[in-house]
Amino acid sequence: MEKLRFGIVGCGVIGPTHAEALQSLPQAELVAVADVIPEKAQKLADKFHATAYTDLQEMLDREQLDVVDVCTPSGMHGEHACQIMRSGRHVIIEKPMEIRKDRIEEILQVQRETGKKVAVISQHRFDEASQQVHQLIQEQALGRMVLGNAAIPWWRSQKYYDSGAWRGTWALDGGGILMNQSIHSIDILQWLMGRVKTIRAYTDTLVHKMETEDVAVAVLRFESGALGTISATTGAYPGATTRIEVFGDKGSAIIEDDRLGYLHLASQDSEEVGPYGGGRKKSDAAAAAAKSTASDPAALQASTHAQQIADMIRAIQEDGTPLVDGHSGRHPVEIILGIYEAASTGKEVTLS
Ligand SMILES: NC(=O)c1ccc[n+]([C@@H]2O[C@H](COP(=O)([O-])OP(=O)(O)OC[C@H]3O[C@@H](n4cnc5c(N)ncnc54)[C@H](O)[C@@H]3O)[C@@H](O)[C@H]2O)c1
Repeated sequence: MEKLRFGIVGCGVIGPTHAEALQSLPQAELVAVADVIPEKAQKLADKFHATAYTDLQEMLDREQLDVVDVCTPSGMHGEHACQIMRSGRHVIIEKPMEIRKDRIEEILQVQRETGKKVAVISQHRFDEASQQVHQLIQEQALGRMVLGNAAIPWWRSQKYYDSGAWRGTWALDGGGILMNQSIHSIDILQWLMGRVKTIRAYTDTLVHKMETEDVAVAVLRFESGALGTISATTGAYPGATTRIEVFGDKGSAIIEDDRLGYLHLASQDSEEVGPYGGGRKKSDAAAAAAKSTASDPAALQASTHAQQIADMIRAIQEDGTPLVDGHSGRHPVEIILGIYEAASTGKEVTLS
């Protein structure tokens, strides 16, 4: 099968990760890269034997490309994704899909008009732990879901926020700890627990000099009726474990830093736990990991970005749908915008 020809727009922090992921995939070839800063484009182009551009449109006009990866600041994703699809190419958009609802709708509209495919990067969906827990929930192995929590106690220095004029701004980052860092965990939480219906929240900026929030807590009710929480900050020095916890009346799972930290299923108990529960046994996680069937040793070697790009290539070649398409990419942003609204109004927000 012929290789798909890729371009990348945005050669900053994450652009090179896409280039490396593409290099690891036999079905892909990186042909061209673009960045408004010529040295950044040239450096990436030199390393991966691609052609450098300083203008996205020029790259689209001159190069034969099948897919372009959007790795520019978050508030530019809509403009660049639409430009790429209108030029007849498929698009892989870094997270968040966009920071505004109207621009997400525009991406989906242009996708319908052009018939091109859209994938939104959420690479932790490809982690073995999230795949396994998702599968178990689909099989109803955790029973009726009652509670889902995401905790993101991270650290980012002031230097990080000062490293790019767009970081921590409403116009281009679209938010702080929620829109930039926590969207990964929020996406996994909603993938596991289902869509969010209502939200109450607080946000604040306590540690950094920036426009947007560096600490947030939200209380959620999912459409299923289950409850949930999100607690997140970039002010927790030096940064601690990310946890996604999902609890049902027949089982519980905890993902810690992308790994399965705990799994206990009623179906694996030789006898039912007593009226006060079974507590947490250390061996549970190890036993669960050993039992994992979702594991693919070859895939584990590759980066999760590469796995997600491979999923998009499959979707293009088979005319299927990527795991995280434009519709899947929209809901995490809706949840985050709902949290901002709930925090600023002090009222409960209902998502439509
Ligand atoms: N999936 C992940 O784990 C992950 C990690 C980091 C960043 N990201 C996302 O990737 C995006 C970029 O983040 P980053 O940290 O790489 O930012 P960055 O500032 O390091 O890089 C962005 C690059 O885009 C270039 N750029 C700006 N405007 C442009 C334009 N009009 N045309 C061409 N190039 C332009 C900038 O010069 C810069 O080099 C963000 O949306 C961020 O949320 C995702």
